[in-house]
Amino acid sequence: MEIKVTTIETNRTRPKDSDLGFGQVFTDHMFVMDYSEDKGWHDSRIEPYADFSVSPAAMVFHYGQAIFEGLKAFKTPDKKICLFRPRDNFKRMNRSATGMCIPNIDIDFVMDALKQLIRLEEKWIPETLGTSLYIRPTIIATDPFLGVRASLTYRFFIMLSSVGAYYAEGLNPVKIWVSKDHVRAAKGGVGEFKTAGNYAASLIASEKAKKEGYAQVLWLDAIERKYIEEVGAMNIFFLIDDELITPNLTGTILPGITRYSVINLAKKWGMNISERKISIDEVFLAHENGKLKEVFGSGTAAVISPVGEIRYGDKVISIGDGKPGETAMKFYTGLTDIQYGKAEDSENWIEVVD
Ligand code: PLP
Ligand code: COI
Repeated sequence: MEIKVTTIETNRTRPKDSDLGFGQVFTDHMFVMDYSEDKGWHDSRIEPYADFSVSPAAMVFHYGQAIFEGLKAFKTPDKKICLFRPRDNFKRMNRSATGMCIPNIDIDFVMDALKQLIRLEEKWIPETLGTSLYIRPTIIATDPFLGVRASLTYRFFIMLSSVGAYYAEGLNPVKIWVSKDHVRAAKGGVGEFKTAGNYAASLIASEKAKKEGYAQVLWLDAIERKYIEEVGAMNIFFLIDDELITPNLTGTILPGITRYSVINLAKKWGMNISERKISIDEVFLAHENGKLKEVFGSGTAAVISPVGEIRYGDKVISIGDGKPGETAMKFYTGLTDIQYGKAEDSENWIEVVD
């Protein structure tokens, strides 16, 4: 499929790297294509970033049929543009699509489209450690219809955003709050898909957490309310003695690409890594016994995010000494060295945009 390109000259400039937060600075262009039953994915175009026109009856507004991805492009010291595991994101997008009755996309085609868009938007890629170009592929249901069924038409778009750290804390440890009253996802539901409704469902608990001074919610399983699942926007790891533990994938948590990367590096470095059930009681008991060494989250936006405090009901535990732990930093450096082209890409995770 041919991509129609319409460009715009703007005098907008990228803010200073040190002023970049997360998700507020959008670039000048976006990639868009539409889907209908008779034409499949069609009308692919790169066009100036602007508001869309869709019907108020578009099914996404009413029944939430929407999926998205999050990945990043990095600028290396020798000015190469590196995408980190982009095909894994599009594979996951297709799994989310299937789970939400949305048509799949052609990964080779969207990879080409993404690279073309990024080449055009090169000036928006910041260069310092901790900054990057965040890429947000999204699919929404556009059928103007008020009955409940899968939409017959969709729009796929990729928007780009120059970003710095996701959390205001940067690399400093964040505080997380265990939700006792709310659950994020149940087995048989859509928790493992990156669909908008999972985030909508998480808001009431995260607003409560924020009011109490916590950055995000740590979710427990929906049935026993005992086993740890993940955090609002990242997967979670616990270092207990010398065992690095992350909850196993049970269909209710997002299979994070950073999570896979951490597991992979941990194995490569000969660490004792387990994907297994871990209860909140085990974490608190390990803390009581002085065995809970570190806790950190992993995610595209969050990278590696040390956790310094966990609250569960009236109980609060502090982890570490207010600084990022040694293991969290080892993974942060290990991952970012590959992403920014400072270390050999021994795992073949980088795809260069040339
Ligand atoms: N869990 C949730 C709910 C997320 O939104 C994210 C972010 O994408 C993650 C985990 C981490 O996934 P990844 O490492 O693929 O970014
Ligand atoms: C990401 O890390 O890419 C995410 O999608 C998390 C969040 C911003 C929703």
